[in-house]
Parts: sequence; C-alpha cells; structure tokens
Amino acid sequence: MTAPLRVAVLGAGTVGREVVRAFLERGEDLRSADGATLVLAGVAVRDVAKAVATGIPEALLTDAPAHLVADPDVDVVVELLGGEEPARTLIAASLGAGKAVVTANKHVIAHHGPELEGLARRTGATFRFEASVGGGIPVLGPLATELAANRIQRVRGILNGTTNFVLTAMAQEGRDYADILAAAQAAGYAEADPTADVEGHDAANKLVILARLAFGVWMDPATVALVDAGGPGHGLPGITGVSAGDVTLARADGEVIKLVATAERGLDGAIVASVLPLRLPAAAALACTDGVLNRIEIEAEPIGVVAFSGPGAGGAATSSAVLGDLVAIARGLGSTWAGLAPAGVPPAGAGS
Ligand code: HSE
Repeated sequence: MTAPLRVAVLGAGTVGREVVRAFLERGEDLRSADGATLVLAGVAVRDVAKAVATGIPEALLTDAPAHLVADPDVDVVVELLGGEEPARTLIAASLGAGKAVVTANKHVIAHHGPELEGLARRTGATFRFEASVGGGIPVLGPLATELAANRIQRVRGILNGTTNFVLTAMAQEGRDYADILAAAQAAGYAEADPTADVEGHDAANKLVILARLAFGVWMDPATVALVDAGGPGHGLPGITGVSAGDVTLARADGEVIKLVATAERGLDGAIVASVLPLRLPAAAALACTDGVLNRIEIEAEPIGVVAFSGPGAGGAATSSAVLGDLVAIARGLGSTWAGLAPAGVPPAGAGS
C-alpha cells in the first residue's frame, strides 16, 4: 500500500479554515482510490489560541510555518497565507526541498512564476495552483490537459469576484462602489487590502497565470494594461473610476459595465493583455455573469469558444480547487502545467 501523504496547511483564514475543516469533518472524501491517502499533519496560524477557538485541535497547530515546511515528516505544503512574504519564501523552500506545493496565491505565482516553475522542474516537486484563478472553477487544468491540442487565440473573462459583486450591486442598487465594497469584504471575497481588487491588480495576476497555461509564457504583470482613458473607467484603474451614474447611463443604452480581463495573440505573435472596465451588450454571457461569479471564455482552434463559469471567490468555493489539487497529488498527477513544455519569458519591451 502507498504510504500516506502528510499535509501541512499554512494559514487558516478564509480558504485555509475550509480546507482544514474538510480534513477534520470529511477526510474520507479526500482519498484517491488508486493512490495515497492524505493526512493532515499540521496547521500554521498567526494566533494559535484563536484557531483553537474555531475548533482546530491544538496538537495540530503551530505559529511557526517555516518549521512545518522543514519538517521531514511533511510531504505536501498547502500555502494559503496570501500576499508576497513569507508566502514566496515558504513556497520556494518547499519546492526546493522537493515537497509538493498547493497554493491559491495568485500574487506570488504571477510575480515569481518563472523562478518557481524552474525550481519545481529542477527538483521534480509537484506544484499545483488551480485555486489561484477563478476560485472554485476548474480552468487551468483543462487548459493544460483536455484543451492542450488547441492553438489558443484569446482568453477573456471576469476574473475578480469582489469587483463583479460590487458592479452587480451598483447596477441593481444604484450606489457607488465604495459603499458596497464592505459587503464584499464581509463575505470573504476581497483581498486583505482590497486595492488589489478594485484597481485590477488581482485580475491582472490571474490573467498572467491563465496566459502561462494558454500561451506558454510568463508575462510580466506590469505589462497588463489597467487604464483606458476612453473607456467607462475614465482613465482610472480597475473599477475605481466607475460611478453609479456610468452604470445607469450604460443601462439606458442596453449595456452593462464589467471588469474584463483579456489576453490575446497579436498579429506579430506577442501576447497583449488588459484588465479594463468595458461596456458590454446586456444579453452577452459575460454581462449576465453576476455577483461573485467568474466566467472565463477561451477562443481556440479547433474547438471554437469554450467557457467556464462558477463561484470565483470565497472560502468554500476556493477550498474545492485546493482540495482537488491535493487529491490530484495523491493520484500522482503532477504539476498544474501537466505535460506542457517549460514556459518561456517574453522579450523585454515586447508588451507580453
Ligand atoms: N479577491 C479575490 C476576488 C479572491 O475577489 O476574486 C479570489 O481570488
């Protein structure tokens, strides 16, 4: 029988506590019929007493994530701390030690993708990050596997649950975005600093990750255009320039404003990417994607257009993708990029 895989979870916030809860309450669902079993070996949190109060057994808890990463009895590290540091260092240390890593950290993957992919390939460690894009929606896996025989022309979609929740409420309630943002934060959709959501950086990070799987390159997130002086954002990034009045005016024209992320092959083969508020015909599928839902449309040859939609943020939905990656590791399925070739990095100044 295959030895059990011992899993350390770093972070018990919005997503982490749902992952830990799954281990504690329905561990039998996390089995692979033909692979290893998964065992929760430890949980690293900032405040142990607070975590005990939420029902996590004290024996599993530590406030020293680096110790869990270095523990020879830990085989798989689930990084759900979010943000740049210490997440990046802990992911790199785990991959460097040959340990499998599962993460939802779109910021770290988008900004350090080439280095982390290279490290994982060198050590042979499995690196999975389905939860980093689209919350619970499976989209990176299909890009790397079932759609691998396609030539992808364009990836377009709504990639941020917080801003879509806010734009939907603006359209339905006529209030400005700042008033509604607090509700998105209370629901666990927004980042710790919601500037990343409302200015479009979070969607840009997710677009960089989608582009890695779709086009085989790690784009620099700084090359994703976030501002369009002529659009409904009035030259401000993300949804920060969109007012309740803009939403009402768009509706009068039969249109809806959505924050749309697009990455596509230009005529010269370079990838051009943007995250911009756009006016869309009200009947378009993207325009009908409301609340915390995300939708990703992939235009490719020979398939045509295929779309994925579902809950794009929140602990429960995102834990589905994290747990799915853990089951994939138990099945021995390898990294999120599956059998795709190592990614390239576009030449400096290529805009992609
Ligand atoms: N803040 C993110 C969002 C969380 O609203 O989409 C999910 O990545």
